[in-house]
Amino acid sequence: MTAPGPAPARGYGLEVLPVGGWAATVASRLCHRLMERPGLRVCLPTGDTPTPVYAELVARERRGEVSLAHATVVQLDEWAGLPPGDPARCDARLRRELIDRLAAPPVFVSIDADGPDDEAAALAHDSAARGLDLAVLGLGMNGHVGFNEPGSHPDDPTRLVRLAVSSREAATSRYGADSTPTAGITVGLARLLEAEECWLLVTGERKAQVLRRVLEQPEGLDCPASYLRRHPWLTVFADEPAASLLRKG
Ligand code: PGA
Repeated sequence: MTAPGPAPARGYGLEVLPVGGWAATVASRLCHRLMERPGLRVCLPTGDTPTPVYAELVARERRGEVSLAHATVVQLDEWAGLPPGDPARCDARLRRELIDRLAAPPVFVSIDADGPDDEAAALAHDSAARGLDLAVLGLGMNGHVGFNEPGSHPDDPTRLVRLAVSSREAATSRYGADSTPTAGITVGLARLLEAEECWLLVTGERKAQVLRRVLEQPEGLDCPASYLRRHPWLTVFADEPAASLLRKG
């Protein structure tokens, strides 16, 4: 596949936050969006990055400061081939950390990775991922967002993908999967770029190099997250260690 042509630079917002205040700030922004638009359709990731944001959100919901009762949460990605009880399953983690802890949960549109046909599940989820108000994303060490691994194209729809070796390893070594998945289903870059608003969440010094690649070098197939700079309303929420290699100012 040839590399897509250059896109007009549109600019993005970058918020560099202290480690101690990062999750509270991101959760506050999410609360504001929910208050402005109670029926928010938001695509949410799993992984270690958003976990403290979800804890903040749950605490605020329990205090009656925000409600997700009218919102719709669309799952960003899922491993293919992990059984429902596997601790690494993205749907289980999202339920465990957010959905099931809310007094009044949102509609949760999960990816059906348990059926006989993953391609069909991906196609169905592609429809669900259209018309998002907000796409919230983590950043992989290899520049992936969701399971849009290196080589992914900005026109890619939601689809079944082969996982990069680093993602396979993360399943077992970081997220505790019982077996190593080799494929996944992910909302595609096309749907993410169509969302009205897009957030990229990045924490920790280990992400500093890849964040610099995402923001300060030309977009390219080697780094799918770099295509998010095409988004007309992208905000990057980075903690100070993650932002430590970015150009000042
Ligand atoms: P992490 O994963 O939030 O656990 O660092 C992000 C990703 O690989 O997409």
